[in-house]
Amino acid sequence: MSAFIVFEGGDGAGKSTQVGLLAQWLREQNVQVEETRQPGGTRLGASIRDLLLHGDSMTARAEALLYAADRAQHVAEVVRPALDANKVVLCDRYIDSSAAYQGFGRGLGVKEVRKISLWATDRLEPNLTVLLDIDPGVGLERQQGRGLDRLEQESLTFHEGVRQAFLTLAEADPASYLILNADEDARLLHQRIRERAAQLLGFSCVHSEEWTR
Ligand code: TYD
Repeated sequence: MSAFIVFEGGDGAGKSTQVGLLAQWLREQNVQVEETRQPGGTRLGASIRDLLLHGDSMTARAEALLYAADRAQHVAEVVRPALDANKVVLCDRYIDSSAAYQGFGRGLGVKEVRKISLWATDRLEPNLTVLLDIDPGVGLERQQGRGLDRLEQESLTFHEGVRQAFLTLAEADPASYLILNADEDARLLHQRIRERAAQLLGFSCVHSEEWTR
């Protein structure tokens, strides 16, 4: 029972918390899970991540291609092998992040940038994308104290555009997305995500008492 579930959203939306909670619950259901993230997730990816987040300034096109290169390696080395081994892959950020940050934010074009990533991944698309929608003012505030990376240092207007781009992609395809207000309580968000994941994986009965765990 393999599935590819992606978590998207602005910085500080709580994606990694939700990936962790869902992974834990799935493991309790005896599902084999692979937790991973982009950029990063492979040895090459860790080097690319360093260049992208802490390196010198670069052109928007170079930035887009580096995210795509990370994704190509990550899909070939981690995601596809895990799916082939019948695992559920939970990935923190995927193609929509490039579409929103580089396509919209950097003005390279959402469709163009999506095309590059589809080529990079040999057209691997998620079965479900959980979009944790957050007001960038709130999200970036949550990141304070951690040292902002190169993308996080962009203006609020940039991040507002990124947020709208995520929403536009999700609203165009409700069957493939779960849109949540990331301002809500983490346990509540987890319950909704669990419910949708259970549906996707075809779990026949999800008892209500489980929700309170
Ligand atoms: P992330 O790993 O989510 O950051 P953090 O470790 O702070 O949680 O992502 C790092 C940054 O990279 C984030 O600001 C968003 C950006 N990004 C893109 O611009 N394009 C992409 O394709 C991806 C995957 C991330």
